[in-house]
Amino acid sequence: MAPTLKILPSLLAADFGRLEAEAVRAEAAGADALHLDVMDGHFVPNLTMGPDIVKMARKSVRIPLNVHLMIDNPDKLVQVFLDAGASTILIHIEVDCDVRAVLTMIRQAGVRPGITVKPETPIEAIYPVLDIVDEVLCMTVPPGFGGQKFRPDVLPKIKTLRARLDAAGDSKDIMVDGGVTRETIAACAAHGANSFVAGVALFRAQDMAAEVSLMRLRAATATP
Ligand code: DX5
Ligand code: ZN
Repeated sequence: MAPTLKILPSLLAADFGRLEAEAVRAEAAGADALHLDVMDGHFVPNLTMGPDIVKMARKSVRIPLNVHLMIDNPDKLVQVFLDAGASTILIHIEVDCDVRAVLTMIRQAGVRPGITVKPETPIEAIYPVLDIVDEVLCMTVPPGFGGQKFRPDVLPKIKTLRARLDAAGDSKDIMVDGGVTRETIAACAAHGANSFVAGVALFRAQDMAAEVSLMRLRAATATP
């Protein structure tokens, strides 16, 4: 069965002076979940939000919270994000800790575990943990900042992964994040992605609901 198409606004592109209203605006625009980018200034050269923002979002909206940890020590910090009300927690395969143990801890807490790869990391790097994740995030920009240019060279990785999952009868989510817009979403869908994070393209759109609908339509009608 083909996985469900999902559109996730990334709160990183919201107006930080009114974050709660922005989370509510994304939900009202038809978002399937809200994407929250956690950065530590070490794994990536930027600092963003922590567990209190996740807690705020959990109180403000009913849609799932998709938490993307761009941090060096997810083993030390994952518990606070589990406690904060995350629905999915994504960690990076490139971190220097026992990734499988962290993903197992996430699942045992009743939260969906996800694994993420940077654009330069081969998709094969995540195969050893593919069996215990619900979602694979293929970054389509280097992690760290919103508003970067989409990297089409990532598309073959998505195709390879979807073919592998299809061959196994596995309908896991493949998510893309970075530079996803009304212009780039069809290529991602055509290569096998079904879950789409977009920051600038949605929060800075004139009409977020119309943009969510347009992106959803373009993904749904993309042909391989
Ligand atoms: C980048 C973050 C993204 C970011 C995407 O490191 O993981 O979630 O918000 O932003 P856009 O869609 O603006 O490229
Ligand atoms: Zn992200």
